[in-house]
Amino acid sequence: MSTDIDFSSLPFGYFKTDYNARAYYKDGRWSEPEYTTDEQLSIHMASTCLHYGQECFEGLKAFCGKDGVIRIFRLEENAKRLVHSARGICMAPVPVEMFITMCKQVIRLNKKYIPPFGAGASLYLRPYLLGTAAQVGVSPSTEYFFGVFCSPVGPYFKDGFKPVRMQIVRDFDRAAPYGTGTYKVGGNYAASLQALVRAKAEGYSSVFFLDAKEKKYIDEAGPANFFGIKNGQYITPRSSSILRSITNMSLRELAGDMDLAVIERPVTVEELTDFSEAGACGTAAVITPVKEIVDREVRTSYRFGDGEHAGPITTALYERLMGIQNGELDDKFNWNTILD
Ligand code: PLP
Ligand code: COI
Repeated sequence: MSTDIDFSSLPFGYFKTDYNARAYYKDGRWSEPEYTTDEQLSIHMASTCLHYGQECFEGLKAFCGKDGVIRIFRLEENAKRLVHSARGICMAPVPVEMFITMCKQVIRLNKKYIPPFGAGASLYLRPYLLGTAAQVGVSPSTEYFFGVFCSPVGPYFKDGFKPVRMQIVRDFDRAAPYGTGTYKVGGNYAASLQALVRAKAEGYSSVFFLDAKEKKYIDEAGPANFFGIKNGQYITPRSSSILRSITNMSLRELAGDMDLAVIERPVTVEELTDFSEAGACGTAAVITPVKEIVDREVRTSYRFGDGEHAGPITTALYERLMGIQNGELDDKFNWNTILD
């Protein structure tokens, strides 16, 4: 099997592959998974996902190592988070085992699209769950669709591991303290779009949202969590309105292993002054070093590092994370699922 894809210049985007997976929930039970080449879905026009946002999803990656082994990073954690998101908006959860089976099979059926070791790319999986019963009243759907597709992808932020500029926004909120922030639901991303489009037009890579109640603490970026480094400490926000990033969870373990103190607590905007390094982390973003954060309304700017290179701790974390993902370093925390 061979393809003429230039894996080293892939953007983070949709790329047609051969197969995707599907399963259907009806009368209280899930169907057996199906695998199809069809890229189109046929769903009822009154589906709850279309009108009332009953939709949640996941994002995870598979990597090809130098040894040719395919490793899927923290597959079970993503399966569990989809259950959390589904419960959060009253959808039928996808059983963890079914999630795992369908993701693995989608990778196997699209093996020729897995970027080779060293291309700086990976196979991104997008599991997604939709409410599909035809309803007009606002209530949880009685029927669901669960799908998984994949795409070979390059870096989410186009420069890869190069420091970016980010913007703090105060005139938009992504999620409320008792809202849907910890669920990976489409509505949170819709809520982030106006701020994101404006920030990009103003020359920034992305935005950081603040806590919606006090506008005092850093919540997270549109597609990633925040972390900062100061005096041997890895500090990352604790908030009831952010996604529990699996990358961040992994970095906390790696940071602890590097003898950094790991601290999860509310992080004020003013505290940015004290950080020697700052970053955004997530499956798509991996670790994106941040060189400057501009607080748009307050007109303050915070700078990190020399403005050109990632700091030493951010770099060490990045190398360890990537090393485990592609099999160059020992998977001492047992994060990878080896594709059989
Ligand atoms: N925060 C948001 C809003 C995200 O969309 C993502 C991406 O999944 C993350 C954080 C990072 O989470 P993870 O590391 O699990 O991909
Ligand atoms: C991910 O990192 O997997 C995400 O879902 C972020 C983004 C592409 C929305």
